[in-house]
Amino acid sequence: MSTTEFDAIVLGAGAAGLMCAAIAGQRGRRVLLLDHADQVGKKILISGGGRCNFTNVNTAPDRFISANPHFAKSALARYTPADFVALVDRYGIAYHEKTLGQLFCDGSAKQIVAMLLEEAANGGVDVRTGQPVRDVTHADAKFTVRFGDASFSAPALVIATGGPSIPQMGATGFAYDLARQFGLKVVEPRPALVPLTLGGDDVLFRELSGIAAPVEARAGKAAFREAALFTHRGLSGPAILQASSYWRHGEPVTIDFLPDTPKDWLLEAKRSRPRATLRAALGAMLPDRLAETLAERLALTGELAAQTDRKLADAESRLTRWDFRPNGTEGFAKAEVTVGGISTASLSSQTMVAKTVPNLYAVGEAVDVTGWLGGYNFQWAWASGHAAGQVI
Ligand code: FDA
Repeated sequence: MSTTEFDAIVLGAGAAGLMCAAIAGQRGRRVLLLDHADQVGKKILISGGGRCNFTNVNTAPDRFISANPHFAKSALARYTPADFVALVDRYGIAYHEKTLGQLFCDGSAKQIVAMLLEEAANGGVDVRTGQPVRDVTHADAKFTVRFGDASFSAPALVIATGGPSIPQMGATGFAYDLARQFGLKVVEPRPALVPLTLGGDDVLFRELSGIAAPVEARAGKAAFREAALFTHRGLSGPAILQASSYWRHGEPVTIDFLPDTPKDWLLEAKRSRPRATLRAALGAMLPDRLAETLAERLALTGELAAQTDRKLADAESRLTRWDFRPNGTEGFAKAEVTVGGISTASLSSQTMVAKTVPNLYAVGEAVDVTGWLGGYNFQWAWASGHAAGQVI
């Protein structure tokens, strides 16, 4: 079998791989971009409900989770949301800010994939898809990749095969296998931005399936003030998805059902609406069935006037710190991203090169850097892909 030579091979034609290959190609490198899927950028295409939330104008390092919270700083500073927006503008792609700094295409995520493919074509990148990567070897300062029946080699190799979330779409843990093959450490991957499942006593809340409320959800030290949604399996909605990235098995997720209510609200309600029940008072702020369930769980029936101040203060305290004990998540099948991945301790934060294997790089979701919900994960893919693309 003859082997075709390139300057760099990028494995994985998703967000990070496309960016990395395009940047390197435009620097005059001969780049090969390989993907086992029949189509490039599949996750981009389904992202943001088909409109791709391609970045977030509020990008800052503290919106990323990693064993090393400083690791992402360098790449994020050198390729910013404004840089990606400038690219989007150059292609005349219309976009809007939806909420919380999240930028979405007005039209379709297809425009982002088409843009990245054109950028890759401008750099003369050879894009090949639809074959399995059979193996990757390293000898005589060259990486050799068997892709289907073909063989390619290059002095530089970039791992850009993402994380295992949504395996139905061809996502795999291949990046971790490769990393381990080359002696790099992997931080245990966990599903993130994922719905949580409830069991035990909390199972009763499943009856509220479909009901949403604005809350503050807390897991570990992180707190998110957005909507929570009850589902037939447990909890979802943006506040819960965000909290899930910080949640660990066995720990609670604490919900404040009254995030915008001043302290001692219930005592105040007792004075201003003494004949009201807790359910009615809560019903002024929360969906009726949720108000009913919470009031039942607090076993506080009867008029507010009939309750002691102490009891009402305790009830308010629970409503603002309601502990759910999830028994799990809906797993990688439903997770938008993966927390964990190739250890940042094994990589240079400047270039994404492996510290112990010359010219081996890792970018994007494959690396132990995970963004919040809202365009942060694509920004990391662009920024890390750009960092490696400048040096391979
Ligand atoms: P990505 O997964 O994009 O690409 C990896 C590529 O490697 C794929 O093309 C895959 O086929 C290929 N590959 C995998 N295994 C391989 C193997 N063994 N051999 C060869 N190729 C292989 N983020 C955001 O910022 N805004 C958003 O709106 C959304 N929305 C969203 C919706 C849904 C449903 C999901 C699942 C995810 C999102 N995300 C998101 C997250 C975002 O999609 C994700 O973080 C990036 O796509 C990661 O980019 P990468 O290039 O690292 O991986």
